[in-house]
Amino acid sequence: MGDTNIIKLAVPKLRLGMFITAIDKAGKLNISKPGQIKSHDDIKKLATSGINHVWVDAARSTDNCGLIKSTSLRAIKPKKPTREQGQEKAKRLMAEAKGLVQKVLSETFEGKAIEVAPFEDLADNMIESVMLDADAFKCISALRSKDAYLLEHSINVAFLLVTFGKYLNLQREELKQLAVGGILHDIGKIKVDNKVLHKPGKLTPEEFEHMKLHQVYAQQILAETSGLSKISRDVCLMHHEKLDGKGYPNGLEGDELTLYGRMSCIVDIFDALTATRCYKEAMSPAAAFKILLSLTPFHLDQKLVYEFIRCVGIYPVGSLVQLSDGRIGIVWDAKGRDALHPILKCFYSVKHKRYTEVTMIDLLKSDLNIERGISPSSLEVDPTPFY
Ligand SMILES: [Fe+2]
Repeated sequence: MGDTNIIKLAVPKLRLGMFITAIDKAGKLNISKPGQIKSHDDIKKLATSGINHVWVDAARSTDNCGLIKSTSLRAIKPKKPTREQGQEKAKRLMAEAKGLVQKVLSETFEGKAIEVAPFEDLADNMIESVMLDADAFKCISALRSKDAYLLEHSINVAFLLVTFGKYLNLQREELKQLAVGGILHDIGKIKVDNKVLHKPGKLTPEEFEHMKLHQVYAQQILAETSGLSKISRDVCLMHHEKLDGKGYPNGLEGDELTLYGRMSCIVDIFDALTATRCYKEAMSPAAAFKILLSLTPFHLDQKLVYEFIRCVGIYPVGSLVQLSDGRIGIVWDAKGRDALHPILKCFYSVKHKRYTEVTMIDLLKSDLNIERGISPSSLEVDPTPFY
């Protein structure tokens, strides 16, 4: 959503069909209940509860409510595809991927063999999407929900593997097989006891041993799967192996771990650390990189971890940062820039503990600088409406 679509309006100016994203109550901002104005009563309720101003999103409002959507302005610009289009496409792809993964999870649970072809089509679409506009996907990924973790983790690992593989100049066919492997990498978890799989907290040593079995199950499932490439198999079966031979399920060591296997170890841990789950806070990418580096060289391939950090970037698009003036922004555009000077979409001030006007800040043209990357869960407000 472009920033110019968010407009501050006095309550008497509200019309049916407008979409409210935030309200201003006695100087305090609240975005807990965004939604459309469906009746005149909704407007009255706002007025009688002491609300003077609200923020309205023109893009999500109905066409007849009198607001001009900034997409009409944007249409004049030759920039293609826009972030909105990219994000829409990424959202559709994510939904399609979820449906497909959900289907294969339940079919495998019922004992059916995995059919590889639909995943290859999905992998093709993922590669197209990364080639076209990797940033759009990064923003969608920053918005993922806390539930459906396994589903979203699998899809995210696939996207990260394609992004990483592209950065390493791998061939298109390799990218495709990496994506298929990423989608299927935790397939063995469908046979793990649900109580352990969904436990809201740290696993006991016994539970962890049980969880490790997902890789034994994966070996059994993949043994019955035909048409799955060696690359996809490496991703599925090596993502818990360690270079020093202390990983599982096979305790592979050093050169036994292929490039694809090593990549999957890094990507799997990174995604788990940066995801929000009901029992744990998401880490900022920078904090996750520190942990990845601490796992080298015994567990992870050090050279490859450095490449991964360069690939993702210390402040990736879609992540949150705090500026030197206390404002919080979403990293919005980093194309053709060095890592420290992206374009930010700022919406909140931690110094004043309040929302600010939504502003795009180009750090190449500003005296401000990024103080630190922050995790969404450490912020007292929800950044979601500003994506
Ligand atoms: Fe796993």
